[in-house]
Amino acid sequence: MTVDFTMQFPAGFLWGTATAAHQVEGGNTNNNWHAWEQAGGGRIFQNQTHGRACDWWGGRYAEDFDRAAALHHNAHRFSIEWSRVEPQEGRFDDRALAFYADLIAALRQRGLEPMVTLHHFTDPLWLAGQGGWTNRETPARFARFVRMAVEALGADVRLWCTINEPMVYAAQSYLLGRFPPGKRNVRAMFAVAENMLRGHALAYHAIKSIQPEAEVGFAKHQISLKTPFPHALHHGALRLVRWVFNRAFVVALTTGELRLPLRRVQVPEARDTLDWIGLNYYYRFQVSFSPLYPQRVFLNQTQPRDGIRGPGEVGEIWPEGLFEQIKWLCKTTGKPLYVTENGVPDPDDALRRLHMVRSLRSVWKAIMHNYPVRGYFYWTLVDNFEWSEGYDPRFHFGLYACDPQTQRRTARPSAALYGEICAANALGSDAIRRAIPPDEFDALFPAPPVQTRVTLPPRGG
Ligand code: BGC
Repeated sequence: MTVDFTMQFPAGFLWGTATAAHQVEGGNTNNNWHAWEQAGGGRIFQNQTHGRACDWWGGRYAEDFDRAAALHHNAHRFSIEWSRVEPQEGRFDDRALAFYADLIAALRQRGLEPMVTLHHFTDPLWLAGQGGWTNRETPARFARFVRMAVEALGADVRLWCTINEPMVYAAQSYLLGRFPPGKRNVRAMFAVAENMLRGHALAYHAIKSIQPEAEVGFAKHQISLKTPFPHALHHGALRLVRWVFNRAFVVALTTGELRLPLRRVQVPEARDTLDWIGLNYYYRFQVSFSPLYPQRVFLNQTQPRDGIRGPGEVGEIWPEGLFEQIKWLCKTTGKPLYVTENGVPDPDDALRRLHMVRSLRSVWKAIMHNYPVRGYFYWTLVDNFEWSEGYDPRFHFGLYACDPQTQRRTARPSAALYGEICAANALGSDAIRRAIPPDEFDALFPAPPVQTRVTLPPRGG
């Protein structure tokens, strides 16, 4: 018996991919990441630098948008590089703004709705020199840049995303030391989270004052968590990580109060500053606690049981976690949601189609539960500069492979699957059958048991 179905998505659903300026543009020499790359010292895979990346600054965005349009995407999320628009404090570069206006026009010409991110991990050098996001003046400086960007580009942009993954930025830069400035200081991490919250709030109000009809949100990275046996021993650690990393920032946007360990701050201007919430979702981690180290919490990437095994250290990829994250974010904020990033590092395209099917099945399930999911942006269109992983071949996330030396793009098989899904606005059994092995199909979509013998009640009984 075969199982046939169509998981239809709502009319007007946005389908696309997401990118970030520093990862695709190339030649970004005026931000803190450039300086970090130049310093070497093994901070980035093989001491690589972003170089030409995907050469979007050289104009190759146009051919990549052709690819997206040919795959029936109707939207694209990208970011504006602050250090290009404001190369020195208070001096704005009209040429940079014109570049982004052209890029947005190129999207519109191809029928792609732009979603514009205003901060995606990089800071202008002049800002980094003032302490970056640890500085209490930074939120106001960010809002000034945002105002310039919205004045220049707002006529063609409806969807604005203020900040990408504030807690990832804060943790990677100030707790784990993997992003510039490479600090390990929990207090600094909390100060950065607070300032990013203020920055988001000021940016929200700035955008709405210029363009009241704009729809403004931000992209929140959520991680799935689990505990080892005995669960009760580790549950406190799970709650702590879940609160700090997944929840505190989002709750602050509804209450106007940011509650972090040993820190409770009022940020009333942050209340009700969301028109939508963005979800970036990738991994599941195991949280544990050891009585031998009562001050510590352990976070590990474990190998999967029901998830997908990622490359190298990546550990567990668990697409089904999307459902819980969508549910929590929609319930907490009461707002519509875009999946602003979701993808898998997979150079050989061995996992990607299964991952895509499982992920979209979870998103569809959330829609069936009446959670207002409005769109899905796959991470990413073409392989690009993957931060500390540089161009490490294990961390290629693209629907298209891209060789940064030759700039040659090659479609991976999953690009066609995604194109088919976008064209149909649906995930259908025929497309899935063609994309994943039969045993995976049967495991995901088991045929209902066939009743072979029917026992009727005795007559007149
Ligand atoms: C970031 C992207 C990054 C992706 C894959 C996300 O957390 O926003 O910039 O490339 O993860 O690691």
